[in-house]
Amino acid sequence: MELAVVGAGHVGAVCAACMAAVGHRVRVVDVDAQRIALLRAGRAPFFEPGISELLEQGRTRELLSFHVDPAEALPGAALVFLCVNTDNGPDGSVDLSYVESAVQTVSRFADDGAVLVNRSTAPVGTAEYIRSMIEELRGGSLHVAVNPEFLAEGTAVHDFLEPDRILIGAWDKTPIALLAEAYAPIVERRLPSDLREMLANGHRRSGDVPFVVTDPASAELAKYASNSLLAVRVSFINEIAGIAEELGADITKVARAVGLDTRIGPHFLRAGIGWGGSCFPKDIVALQGIAETRGLSARMLRAANEVNTEQRMWTTRQLQSHFKTLFGRRVGLLGLSFKPGTDDMRNAPSLEIASQLAQANVQVRALDPAVKTLPAGFEDKIELLEDPESLATGADALVLVTEWPEFADLDLRRLRGLMRTPLLLDGRNFFDPERARSAGFTYMGVGRAQEVAGVVPALPDAEPSAGDDEVLIGVTAARR
Ligand code: UDX
Repeated sequence: MELAVVGAGHVGAVCAACMAAVGHRVRVVDVDAQRIALLRAGRAPFFEPGISELLEQGRTRELLSFHVDPAEALPGAALVFLCVNTDNGPDGSVDLSYVESAVQTVSRFADDGAVLVNRSTAPVGTAEYIRSMIEELRGGSLHVAVNPEFLAEGTAVHDFLEPDRILIGAWDKTPIALLAEAYAPIVERRLPSDLREMLANGHRRSGDVPFVVTDPASAELAKYASNSLLAVRVSFINEIAGIAEELGADITKVARAVGLDTRIGPHFLRAGIGWGGSCFPKDIVALQGIAETRGLSARMLRAANEVNTEQRMWTTRQLQSHFKTLFGRRVGLLGLSFKPGTDDMRNAPSLEIASQLAQANVQVRALDPAVKTLPAGFEDKIELLEDPESLATGADALVLVTEWPEFADLDLRRLRGLMRTPLLLDGRNFFDPERARSAGFTYMGVGRAQEVAGVVPALPDAEPSAGDDEVLIGVTAARR
């Protein structure tokens, strides 16, 4: 099929590269000439595993092209995916100006009968608004549909090609049929063998991918509800972590036991120093704004946000209770990105922590495998270092902020030897507390009371052969 994508950001570039990888001819248009030049050279303007390979493949197979001129990209496309930014104001109001100007462009250049598919996260009612714009601009000769994206950074290629579901919101049959055709190789899991190989480490599933069709408003709301529920889950487990810390329990064991209930499931129950990124904070505030402007209370959403704000104080509180005064202390942050597998620092807890510490006259230094430049305004708050030894030298505390797998190989004993005070704050419960303590550290994890090992009788270890799902905190299913 002939497809077009408007917007060459994370969502647009991944959509285009993946659609080309399953055999469609895709033309991407963006107003940012620099971004287009990079993509033409086969380079992604962001960090995302697998994307460069797909861009290169699309280019050599001549299935993928990048344009600044919409007149080159839009005519001839059966489906035009709208993947533009929708930023929020602090009150949750969503700025739709990029959507508006993209709709004007599509309206001018797309063929009669083409489908404009909105993939940008936008408030409930945006599809309706787009439809009314098209009606006004060209008498409604384009179809409108919604197809929310559920791509997590770092696994976006996998999430696109092996999704849990594909969600379509539409008013009539034509867009549904065209989208079903475009997604058929993904729905029916008919991916080319090189792609299957590339995804080999992902969670392979069998059977067709659910292709869910709703009205546009339900699809738009489902997107916000998904992200909000995930954020609520993390805030919930973080609230329980605070209780665990107080009561001498270990949140990692609590979460494991809770998550084994099939009605609950194990995902998004990892306690830590709070959620961040480009989606959760933006979407939960937007949904709260949508509800509140209609006189609804959105209490759960507000509470999730409040818990998260509170959670971002964890590091500073731990340091304060350990050192009494923070003035002149030196702290090393292990990780800056909001999660591993990306260099994205939008709404990253690291920035909030660095600001709090800088305010208390703490010298903040950091190390991150992907982040090589600091966001504007942080150059004087954080000193970016290249190796863990420099980070540890003379430090009063190390704080694990992002659970990069690389950090598992750190020589804790050596780092501890370089430090002024051997304090390790594990903001993601990444390290084995025993290993950290036996390396000489005073170790604190989130929701892991320090004395747990002494208070709770040790449970028998899991049998090495037992499958992950059969083990309940060290007791195998067979023994239960
Ligand atoms: C999210 C959604 O997962 C994705 O479907 C949507 O399209 C975009 O938003 P992303 O922002 O890339 O994706 O990150 P995600 O992996 O969902 O993590 C979000 C935040 O929650 C991160 O800060 C992460 O550290 C935190 N988190 C996640 C936890 O603190 N604990 C968990 O158990 C899971």
